[in-house]
Amino acid sequence: KFDRKPLIAGNWKMNMDHVQGITLLQKLAWTLSDARHDYSRVETAVFPPFTDLRGVQTLVQGDKLKLVYGGQDLSPEDEGAYTGDISGAFLAKLGCAYVLVGHSERRSIHGETDELLNRKVKAAYRNNLTPVLCAGEGLEIRQAGTHVDHTLNQVRAGTVGLTSEQVCELVVAYEPVWAIGTGEVAGPQDAQEMCAAIRAELGELFDADSAAKVRLLYGGSVKAANVAAILRERDVDGVLVGGASLDAAEFANIVRFEK
Ligand code: G3P
Repeated sequence: KFDRKPLIAGNWKMNMDHVQGITLLQKLAWTLSDARHDYSRVETAVFPPFTDLRGVQTLVQGDKLKLVYGGQDLSPEDEGAYTGDISGAFLAKLGCAYVLVGHSERRSIHGETDELLNRKVKAAYRNNLTPVLCAGEGLEIRQAGTHVDHTLNQVRAGTVGLTSEQVCELVVAYEPVWAIGTGEVAGPQDAQEMCAAIRAELGELFDADSAAKVRLLYGGSVKAANVAAILRERDVDGVLVGGASLDAAEFANIVRFEK
């Protein structure tokens, strides 16, 4: 656990236009700039809408902010006649380090399949972006007790054909759909149960050393008040925060969680 630096990531979803995005990031940087914050302790990332990324790049690089950023999605292709899509190559050129792949809102609203998401994961690696592969079950599956199988299937399908080297870099976010935007947070033990299962599965599919390097995030109604308990769990290496990442003070408090 101690080799895996915690990743605290804010997914802005379709919130914050490019002007609001800059204001939010400036407030966040200002709040974190106080001397009590040890930047080396965690990696802080934001996932703004595509239209914000150029502004975010200018601010982060110009002001040397100690945070990284990424896109919320990418095309499985690198360029061409794909109207409306954004490629991993374009994201990389804007300085993105990460890209979300298969967020539950992409799976449910856009009908993204595991096969497509596997192609997106590969497109991310091809363009030197770290994919954050999202997986997790809905309420009915949780109630039926098949949530572990369901989530592991998504992870297996998303990682088909990767090399062990690529797996070492991988980030997987466990986001139970019933906990997203609902205020209902999975218990730390639920997050740990799933993250341990994902790590074990990746160990089987690839190898234990690579699996030990994968960073596993929990997402779903994370706030400053519950983040520490979640991150205390052995296999949980970070959080993917939605709503609470839109408030600079709250997100700063999440980044500065007390162990
Ligand atoms: O990607 C993060 C997200 O889906 C969780 O959203 O608003 O419950 O923190 P939220």
